[in-house]
Amino acid sequence: MTATMRAAVLHPEASSLQIEQVGVAGPGPEEVLVRTAATGLCHSDLHFIDGSWPIPTPCVLGHEAAGVVEAVGPGVGEVAPGDHVVTCLSVGCGECITCLEGRSYLCLEGRSVRTRAAGQPPRLSLGGEELHQFVGLATFAERMLVHRRALVRIRRDMPLDRAALLGCGVLTGTGAVFRTAGVRPGSSVAVVGCGGIGMAAVQAARIAGATLVIAVDTEPRKLAWATELGATHAVDPADGDPVEQVHALTGGGAEFTFEAIGLPRTVEQCLNMAARGGTATVIGMLPQGARVEIDGAELFLHEKRLQGSLMGSNVFRRDLPQLVDLYLDGRLRLDEMVSLRLDLDRINEGYEAMLAGEVVRAVVEIA
Ligand SMILES: NC(=O)c1ccc[n+]([C@@H]2O[C@H](COP(=O)([O-])OP(=O)(O)OC[C@H]3O[C@@H](n4cnc5c(N)ncnc54)[C@H](O)[C@@H]3O)[C@@H](O)[C@H]2O)c1
Ligand SMILES: [Zn+2]
Ligand SMILES: [Zn+2]
Repeated sequence: MTATMRAAVLHPEASSLQIEQVGVAGPGPEEVLVRTAATGLCHSDLHFIDGSWPIPTPCVLGHEAAGVVEAVGPGVGEVAPGDHVVTCLSVGCGECITCLEGRSYLCLEGRSVRTRAAGQPPRLSLGGEELHQFVGLATFAERMLVHRRALVRIRRDMPLDRAALLGCGVLTGTGAVFRTAGVRPGSSVAVVGCGGIGMAAVQAARIAGATLVIAVDTEPRKLAWATELGATHAVDPADGDPVEQVHALTGGGAEFTFEAIGLPRTVEQCLNMAARGGTATVIGMLPQGARVEIDGAELFLHEKRLQGSLMGSNVFRRDLPQLVDLYLDGRLRLDEMVSLRLDLDRINEGYEAMLAGEVVRAVVEIA
């Protein structure tokens, strides 16, 4: 049975979201209907809104959320109505080699869990037609109808607005540090770009025991916040070449560098900021087709590594509850990362604030 709800819809050719009444189906086999409590505004959605990455429209975007289970379909055993959950886009098919290896965030066969089979009524609809559900989640809506494997139950004492950030930004930033790169106690770290993702990486570097944590950002407010959350040094490119500044602070480069913006130039800076034998990890979502220019000697002569990190190389059913515990222990600070709270009607203002450099994360509180 289809119910109606409010959702922020991206229409063809549009450059902002429109709040509309849309249809949401009841949960079918292996599906869970979740009442969305809060959703974070990640820059990745903006790449689809501003057209730097194409996407089928009309579409409901959003992929960073927490909520409360409202109803479950047949074959769902792991959650029940009333459970608090975080959703995540890293859902694999469960059968391919990457899934079997525990790397389902890399699975390319996840379509079967992200959408219903052809011929089935769609999960979301608008005027009787299919409304695309971004990465099988579409969190910019009052309800999320998702596959049972796209969520994880969390402790009831975890506030849902802050839990939302764990679904992408914090999972990605901390996972890049803990899992993809493997930062160790005593390491030196530089994080280029201190928005939601980079600020989570700064905190993860502190938690992992890095002794030097250098935050790099063009927005002085971000540098001040990063320093509060664990950065030992702040580098503003307005004060001179950030690569030279990081080399001066570290005496030859940082062992681990992270790019959390999505620009070829800052990817190049990250490789150049890394020490001999160091590792540069690219988290930022570069524009489609973007090329990066690197000096080959950085690789063979200095034995540097350049690698990517997708969704923090997560196993989110393992990682999410750990992040919740780190927050409730006071070590992962999420309160300070929520700079702005909005209701769904004002979602576009959240992106304006992001582009103006005013927020670490804007959070839309829905219910
Ligand atoms: N790899 C993944 O799985 C993954 C997951 C989530 C997000 N992302 C991507 O990570 C990137 C960051 O996302 P976010 O939500 O934190 O974005 P954000 O807009 O909140 O943060 C970007 C930060 O970069 C800073 N910045 C911009 N240009 C700069 C420059 N030249 N030098 C230094 N700092 C600069 C901004 O001031 C801002 O603080 C985006 O590209 C997003 O799409 C990737
Ligand atoms: Zn994201
Ligand atoms: Zn798979």
